[in-house]
Amino acid sequence: MTGIQTLWRLQKVLKKQIEVQNLCFRYKSHEVLKDINLNIYKGDYLAIIGPNGGGKTTFTKLLLGLLKPTKGSIKIFDKSVIEARKEIGYLPQYINFNMDMPINVYDIVLQGRLEPTKLFYTTKDKEIVHKQLKKMNILDLKHRKIKELSGGQRQRVLLARALVKEPKILILDEPTASIDPEGQKDIYALLKRLPLTKIIVSHDIQVLFEGVNRVAHINKKLYIHEDIETTIQRGDGHFCEMELLDYIKSHSCSS
Ligand SMILES: Nc1ncnc2c1ncn2[C@@H]1O[C@H](COP(=O)(O)OP(=O)(O)O)[C@@H](O)[C@H]1O
Ligand SMILES: [Mg+2]
Repeated sequence: MTGIQTLWRLQKVLKKQIEVQNLCFRYKSHEVLKDINLNIYKGDYLAIIGPNGGGKTTFTKLLLGLLKPTKGSIKIFDKSVIEARKEIGYLPQYINFNMDMPINVYDIVLQGRLEPTKLFYTTKDKEIVHKQLKKMNILDLKHRKIKELSGGQRQRVLLARALVKEPKILILDEPTASIDPEGQKDIYALLKRLPLTKIIVSHDIQVLFEGVNRVAHINKKLYIHEDIETTIQRGDGHFCEMELLDYIKSHSCSS
């Protein structure tokens, strides 16, 4: 191995944040994920695409320690997923909001600063929330109730709540699924600018055109493809999922 190759390898090792090894998961007798191997590096913007029922949400829940692997392991920052949880911001696919809750936008975002041992919010918490609301362009909505927001505005609020935790990694499960095309564009533009490691899960391959640098296809097994630009150029942006899957499988760097 040349000096440059050694250096490149060392750099990769130092930048590794998530290591998934031989991961398998089943709900009772239903096998959902099989033999998944994946490394995620600092600054990655990884899209995980795949059909409904392919195991995308299950995979994110395993990364968060909400489910336990049937086999295999996940290390985040070389720690267990539970220990690493405070470094991770999460936007779940479904949030059961009681629309009649009297809580306003400001309080929802402030909840992102909660910690198990914390009894009250500090001035610093409030400053961080104020800044984040401004960054997300929702400061003027701070007194609104959740039911008074559009789908896109609601997602911004939830994104702000995930970000005030100041995570190193952000996991988003179908963040644009229930919003109109204009709102989707907004969310994608916002995400693109965020300077942290991001994992975005979607059944919509539009996500590939929104600045991601790696793509994985998941449908029980996972195939990862690194060279996203070539993938997109090749199809002039017109990919059907099967075509994309074939392409990823034949050019995948690991599986
Ligand atoms: N709590 C559960 N109990 C049993 N099966 C489940 C549960 N949650 C999901 N599944 C099943 O696991 C598979 C993967 O689901 P999921 O991870 O939600 O897929 P995706 O997010 O890709 O649509 C599906 O067949 C789904 O029906
Ligand atoms: Mg899902």
